[in-house]
Amino acid sequence: MNKKDTLRVGQDIEKAAELIQEGELVALPTETVYGLGALARSEAAIEKLYRAKGRPTDHPVIVHICEPAQINDWACDITDDAMKLAEAFWPGPLTLILKKKESVSYKITGGQDTVALRIPSHPLTLETIKRVGSGLAAPSANKFGRLSPTEASDVDREFGEELAYVLDGGTCDIGIESTIVNLVGDSPEILRPGHIDRAALEAVLGKKVRSRFEEADTDTNTDTELLDKQNQQETREAVRVPGALPQHYAPAKPLYLVKTEELAPALAKLKSEGKKASVLAFSAAPSQHDAPWLVSDRDARNFARKLYSRLRELDTANCDCILVESPPAETAQGWAGIKDRLTRASSPAPFLPIL
Ligand code: TXA
Ligand code: MG
Repeated sequence: MNKKDTLRVGQDIEKAAELIQEGELVALPTETVYGLGALARSEAAIEKLYRAKGRPTDHPVIVHICEPAQINDWACDITDDAMKLAEAFWPGPLTLILKKKESVSYKITGGQDTVALRIPSHPLTLETIKRVGSGLAAPSANKFGRLSPTEASDVDREFGEELAYVLDGGTCDIGIESTIVNLVGDSPEILRPGHIDRAALEAVLGKKVRSRFEEADTDTNTDTELLDKQNQQETREAVRVPGALPQHYAPAKPLYLVKTEELAPALAKLKSEGKKASVLAFSAAPSQHDAPWLVSDRDARNFARKLYSRLRELDTANCDCILVESPPAETAQGWAGIKDRLTRASSPAPFLPIL
């Protein structure tokens, strides 16, 4: 039987594992977002993965493993900090950057001497990795730069027959990508904020963890200033983090991130130009609003879980652009990952300077 001829989406772990072993691409559910799985030890499979995603080859991917002991298959110079974090948070939404073993292909690491490792907690994917018997490269299962998928149907819609199979594990629980911590260097540093925040990491390590994302919550930076600061830092950095490119996780329509007090004037301005905006805001729609309007959850965990599916919904609505109300400052705790993704999904708002 040619397994590619049968159903494209389903819950068949055996089929998923076999296809991956044959060098095919299979989308896998994780607790964060769906990943595009490929055999990490196969350079041909990795090349296929980069082609399907449309990702530049110098941007590294995460290797997903199923047992902490497998760190040793991929990394060397494994620090106590790495073991503490692995023990505390795996399986879970945390990715560790460690020095790579010589045997690990530069195709996975984007030419760098470090490797990203994580044990995801979704049972279907853990079982698939176990059956494959080796680590799986799995970037988020979206085309490069676009929104990450949190449902099997999102992946199928974006890739169709480009993938051999989509393993359907339901809706992703966390909803935004894993926290990435760099453990190579003087002190641990968050490279991508996520559900596991700095306080949780520091509590386990008993030391300070650097984070340019969460420090920004405590001062008065605007989102644009924050992004400028990040961009400056990124040009200095040798580490390439695609999620750290200025525009990433983006819907097809322009998305403008606006403060609460900017929302009404921005809508009025757009209306005066004959433009329609779909909206994600903390308050209900005003009665005259005539496009989709979704009300945000004030709880960070719930907000994150629904974020990408809501942006997808607003993106497909009959409108010219998307307005998202910025999470308020008093809800900063637990919002660093969300603010990061929203800032990167957004375009500079053309109407803001004239408000
Ligand atoms: O939650 C997640 O992490 C999801 C699920 C599928 O596990 N995966 C994911 O993969 O978000 P991707 O490829 O979309 O993002 C991986 C991030 C990128 O920003 C990449 O640059 C960074 O991990 N990364 C990978 N290897 C790295 C390395 N050696 N050094 C620094 N960053 C690295
Ligand atoms: Mg991604």
